Amino acid sequence: MKTRITELLGIEHPIIQGGMHYVGFAELAAAVSNAGGLGIITALTQTSAADLANEIARCRKMTDKPFGVNLTFLPSLAAPDYPGYIQAVIDGGVTVVETAGRNPQAHLPALQEAGIKIIHKCTSVRHALKAEAIGCDAVSVDGFECGGHPGEDDIPNMILLPRAAQELTIPFVASGGMADARSLVAALAMGAEGMNMGTRFIATREAPVHPRVKDAILAASELDTRLVMRPLRNTERVLNNTAAQRLLDKEQMLGDKLTIDDIIDEVAGVYPKIMLDGDMEAGVWSCGMVAGLIDDVPSCQQLIERIMSEADELINQRLCTMVNA
Ligand SMILES: Cc1cc2nc3c(=O)[nH]c(=O)nc-3n(C[C@H](O)[C@H](O)[C@H](O)COP(=O)(O)O)c2cc1C
Repeated sequence: MKTRITELLGIEHPIIQGGMHYVGFAELAAAVSNAGGLGIITALTQTSAADLANEIARCRKMTDKPFGVNLTFLPSLAAPDYPGYIQAVIDGGVTVVETAGRNPQAHLPALQEAGIKIIHKCTSVRHALKAEAIGCDAVSVDGFECGGHPGEDDIPNMILLPRAAQELTIPFVASGGMADARSLVAALAMGAEGMNMGTRFIATREAPVHPRVKDAILAASELDTRLVMRPLRNTERVLNNTAAQRLLDKEQMLGDKLTIDDIIDEVAGVYPKIMLDGDMEAGVWSCGMVAGLIDDVPSCQQLIERIMSEADELINQRLCTMVNA
């Protein structure tokens, strides 16, 4: 399939694996890229720029296809070593960066001078337009369904994607709630040039996370996510567990007096415990409503092949038959 996104990124299929903390290691990124999509390493999971350089080199050994790096710009006081991470990306010959979180404008010149394509992930049309205005090459539009941070507007993709199509000139991919060929065909119909998946890629053979994380996604239905940290305007969609319930109880009890310190046990430093050790009650972790559509653990190759062949069938049989009836 050829779209503006496959052309821009130099990939075979219009499928991207979004950056995921403690999931987006070289093994997963390489597997997605080898299957013809775009795999993405998550920079901030690496504790230093040198570690990121190492991870990029490991990925390079596992694939000769393009892969990307996610740079999440957090609203934190002690900023990570972003210039160091960016240098590691440039030196590592990475061709695509997925930016997310705060406005990436200050970091764009260094990346773009090195010929790196920028996909900014955002949750609203106004932020997508801003990304276009500051020179991003594409955007990833994350609807309210998404795992992780859906923003504060609560607009699902059935509305958000056509709205993005109305306003944007640069290409965009649909993100949030994407799982299969139906997602891809629907996203293309609504104006996207491809799709970005997070939760779906965790339940793959190559995702280097504890088997209990994959089991939790398989066991979950579309009713099993919760929105936490809404009072802090840092909303996150997570899988329901005892930590999520405890956090929501605190939110209800403290109301607008809630601060990040009140919930630090539920959110800080929990990813390695969950993703690597499989301690599923250690805290809250991002997960999309799309868990309700996930019931197997294929390899990335099987997953992407299945999506592309079923998309072909959907378009050329179901839809064409309807149109030509
Ligand atoms: C476990 C997990 C961790 C994530 N970590 C990050 C991250 O560090 N940076 C980021 O930009 N997005 C992160 N995301 C968001 C994904 O990149 C993607 O936008 C989102 O999962 C799409 O929604 P979906 O899960 O419905 O596919 C994370 C998502 C999950 C499920």
